[in-house]
Amino acid sequence: MNQRTAPIEMQAENFRAIGHRLVDRIADFLDSLPERPVTRGESPPAIRETLNSSRLLPDLGTDPEKLIDRAADLLFDHSLFNSHPRFWGYITASAAPIGILGDFLASAVNQNTGAWFLSPMASEIEAQTVRWIAELLGFSTSCGGMLVSGGNMANIVCFLAARQAKAGWDVRASGLNGNPRLRVYCSKETHTWVQKAADLSGIGTENIRWIPTRNDLSMDTVQLQNQIRADKEAGDRPFIVIGTAGSVSTGAIDNLPEIARICREEDIWFHVDGAYGGFAAMLPDASPALRGLNEADSVAVDPHKWLYAPLEAGCALVRDAEKLREAFAYHPPYYHFGVEAINYLDYGPQNSRGFRALKVWLALQHAGRKGYEQMLSDDIRLAKRLFELVAAQPELEAFTHSLSITTFRYVPHDLKSGIDKTEEYLNQLNTELLTRLQNSGEAYISNAVLDGKFALRACIVNFRTSLEDIEALPEIVLRMGREADAELRPEELRIRS
Ligand SMILES: Cc1ncc(COP(=O)(O)O)c(C=O)c1O
Repeated sequence: MNQRTAPIEMQAENFRAIGHRLVDRIADFLDSLPERPVTRGESPPAIRETLNSSRLLPDLGTDPEKLIDRAADLLFDHSLFNSHPRFWGYITASAAPIGILGDFLASAVNQNTGAWFLSPMASEIEAQTVRWIAELLGFSTSCGGMLVSGGNMANIVCFLAARQAKAGWDVRASGLNGNPRLRVYCSKETHTWVQKAADLSGIGTENIRWIPTRNDLSMDTVQLQNQIRADKEAGDRPFIVIGTAGSVSTGAIDNLPEIARICREEDIWFHVDGAYGGFAAMLPDASPALRGLNEADSVAVDPHKWLYAPLEAGCALVRDAEKLREAFAYHPPYYHFGVEAINYLDYGPQNSRGFRALKVWLALQHAGRKGYEQMLSDDIRLAKRLFELVAAQPELEAFTHSLSITTFRYVPHDLKSGIDKTEEYLNQLNTELLTRLQNSGEAYISNAVLDGKFALRACIVNFRTSLEDIEALPEIVLRMGREADAELRPEELRIRS
């Protein structure tokens, strides 16, 4: 084996040719997004058939150019495009082109950012990215933090830091046995990550106190404080309160300064889930409720949401970096790093880590602070415009607008909402309408359930969406709503109307 040629190796000329062709195809693909359906709404069996999913792994290798071409065909023709200008479902962003290039470059250099000496420049770029994110949020720039896979992981990392910092004993060593119950506080609107965190940390989902919300869907902080005091009297140990900066369903913002005050008074860790709305704190006209996140002990934000980074990129920030290390670091004898710098494996559950920060670092500089302020403001303005359009349309009922989320539903003009049977039917009708809309490929929205009502929900974290796109949505909903109503309306509701 003097000269080894591994089956997976590619000569530079070959790599260059295939790579150039792929970049050309990606550029065409991005350019063609507005003309494509958001999705083709194909069924799982149809997708599997196209893929030939039951095919056995071939024994012999295949020409890489053919493989890349086929992969691009499969993905360009059979995906749901988050980057389409009319994608407003869930909270998944349109991907910044510079981020796409960043991921390509990161893979090429293939750094292991678990340890500084394995990734000197990449680790420092990650540290700078974390500091810039803290700056944008108005959070302490001396905080500890790192890039993780997304909002769930960012929140879970902060949650585990809180558990170790506030339990009052060494939970990492002793576990939870025989100690007071650790209690978690959050509003009923909190994202389901908190259940995973309570479960994975051994605390248990039954120890989550789901605090009721006010009319604006923010946490009722009076009930929060009462619950904390009652639990303390019963001998439990409240250790974390989670405030949400932009809830997943409606973009509702908890009163963060008030939660901060309660946490100070009660000596509890204050965590902010800003996975969706945290970045809106950068806006000059951000509400004080949102800006209060700068008082938190920890904050989770999600660059793959409102920084438009390609998946995956979440970010955990902890005010006191030492608390992250105390929650995660171990020093087995086979770690010999010998450099005084951040080793990210000390900050979280991962050991080997990829270079997620690069795409975020690039995008932050491509747009700059002002660019981001403009893009977030535009998204919010478009969601507000959608709310106005919906409110002005007699067959649509507008529910909420907060940050860049608007909720509403279709109500046929001859039906009055608020009557039992009608409400039941409206839920059925809007569920069917949503399924049709999602499968149509004309636009993509999702749903929320508000006080038992099934609502349509548009969430705009999409720098490609224009006013024209937003103005088209009410007409699409009306058309599909009327069609579905003509087919679904039960006899008893026809007679009454
Ligand atoms: C408020 C909030 N927290 C957490 C998450 C989870 O984020 P991810 O899907 O990136 O894990 C979401 C996702 O939409 C969210 O809106």
